[in-house]
Amino acid sequence: MCGIIGYVGKSEATPILMDGLKRLEYRGYDSAGIAVAGPEGVTIERVEGKLAGLERLLAEKPVHGTTGIGHTRWATHGRPTETNAHPHRSGDIIIVHNGIIENYIELKKFLVGEGFEFTSETDTEVICHLIAYHCRKGDTTFRALARVREELHGSYALVVMNAREQGVLYFAKRGSPLVAGGGEKENLVASDIPALLPYTRDMIFLEDGDYGLIRENGIELYGADGKRIERKPQRIPWNALMAERGGYKHFMQKEIFEQPTVMLDVLAGRIQKDRGAITLEELDFLFDGSKLVFDRVSIIACGTSYHAGLVGKYLIESLARVPASVDLASEFRYREPLIDDRTLIIPISQSGETADTLAAQVMAREHGAKVVAICNVVGSSISRAANASIYTHAGPEIGVASTKAFTAQLAALYLLALYLAEKKGMADRKTMAARIDELLTLPRLMKNVLNCADHIREIAEEISDATHVLFIGRGANYPVALEGALKLKEISYMHAEGFAAGELKHGPIALIDHGVPVVAVAPRDAMRQKVLSNIEEVRARGAAVISVMTEGDAELAERSKYTIEIPEASWCITPILTALPMQLLAYYVADHKGTDVDQPRNLAKSVTVE
Ligand code: F6R
Repeated sequence: MCGIIGYVGKSEATPILMDGLKRLEYRGYDSAGIAVAGPEGVTIERVEGKLAGLERLLAEKPVHGTTGIGHTRWATHGRPTETNAHPHRSGDIIIVHNGIIENYIELKKFLVGEGFEFTSETDTEVICHLIAYHCRKGDTTFRALARVREELHGSYALVVMNAREQGVLYFAKRGSPLVAGGGEKENLVASDIPALLPYTRDMIFLEDGDYGLIRENGIELYGADGKRIERKPQRIPWNALMAERGGYKHFMQKEIFEQPTVMLDVLAGRIQKDRGAITLEELDFLFDGSKLVFDRVSIIACGTSYHAGLVGKYLIESLARVPASVDLASEFRYREPLIDDRTLIIPISQSGETADTLAAQVMAREHGAKVVAICNVVGSSISRAANASIYTHAGPEIGVASTKAFTAQLAALYLLALYLAEKKGMADRKTMAARIDELLTLPRLMKNVLNCADHIREIAEEISDATHVLFIGRGANYPVALEGALKLKEISYMHAEGFAAGELKHGPIALIDHGVPVVAVAPRDAMRQKVLSNIEEVRARGAAVISVMTEGDAELAERSKYTIEIPEASWCITPILTALPMQLLAYYVADHKGTDVDQPRNLAKSVTVE
């Protein structure tokens, strides 16, 4: 939540900051601002609303200088107004902040007593006054920042500028992400990788407690204990083009259609077709010979990643016969779960920065659990805090609604379940070979489904005036129903709910009225006949059924107003195929309604506050 960036170099800072903020805008977009140090001092420009407003302002009033900081906001404390927008200033100290300061009321009281005047409703403003306070007492900016780190409770990634110092920016991090890297005679810090990609693919991931400074010719890094540290940059397997829209109307659309290619990347190097085996060497530590070093799996995640986790439970229990539970990370961390050194925790996260998932995982490790993260962002906090990570290799996901990361997570979970099954001796070579052969067809099967996009658009336009839409499914496709409803509500603002089809009779069926669209995820598997009965029940009450079904299922087609076909496949991979119509349906409804598909209201992509 919130994107921050700082630049020091030889080039004009404004276009670099604006480009960086555009690449970070998915993190928050209710106000934006920059501060640039030029020959005439520091200029701060801020606007309420999206970056486009700031861009227009800067076109009218250009700001020149080669050092600057920028911010795109997702409001926590204080409404999304210009006065609450960052950067905030206290005398010579100007800052941008991502995070939440929990003791800001107490600090504010102290600072007001010291004569500081507050102009915003934000928690952030205490930080710049506090640094200014210490500077006033004789500290250098660097020393003041080092002190302030100790005085703040909560989470922060900060970039600090002193109007009296040319060519230097200070930074500090705890709880919110920050990466640093540089090009030729220039250095940057930012909340996330995409902002730095045009300049470098070698990035330093800052750890909690780190602070330091950047100048044109270098990055100085200090650890929590104040000692200078050298940290090796990590090579990022993405390039700047991957974080661009590439001719599509929306990032979400691009990311939906990229999925067959992403699937190739997820599978690459992890399948030994000739041996009928899965390679996940990073997980070898989970075995003592053919014996597992854990007794049960506990999956933790939020939102879409949680839905992937629910599918994972079906796969892991059924294929590897290991008990698995799935929790929302925000609940798990506060419910005193039973965790010990025989528990394998699997946090699932696209961003690798979700605050609740990270905190739950850290807590689990403190109880001795082993942690294998399923994560998309190399070097992210969640992957760093895990014993090992299965990277999903989906490339940068910019659209706020998660799509390609979801199907990549499903594939990673399937690989994990197969790997455990094989190592435990639960799957013979023939079975493994058959499953692997099918996995390798996935990119093609996904393309087949995506080829139905125009048909799905027509259905989407038909249902776009509905007051609510229900999604039902069973087995491994029940979480897909939940995901279908989440996708629709988050980008089209239509009311949608997902249900286990067998639960309808226990209450939700009361919602069915004449013409209510019910999306039934009912591929041909062991549960299909059951879903068919549930379809009959909603039809009898007037629902307009949209069936997502295996091609050629005439029985289901007869009972549906609309059908969307997926190719024949085993139950283990159908969720990857049925997820695609869910995404397309939501996308086309939202596009038809004209909502802001990539930046839906009130949301931010990376949820770094709890
Ligand atoms: C919905 C969506 C969110 C995320 C959730 C967790 O489309 O994207 O529900 O799935 O915020 O985010 P990550 O996976 O980054 O931990």
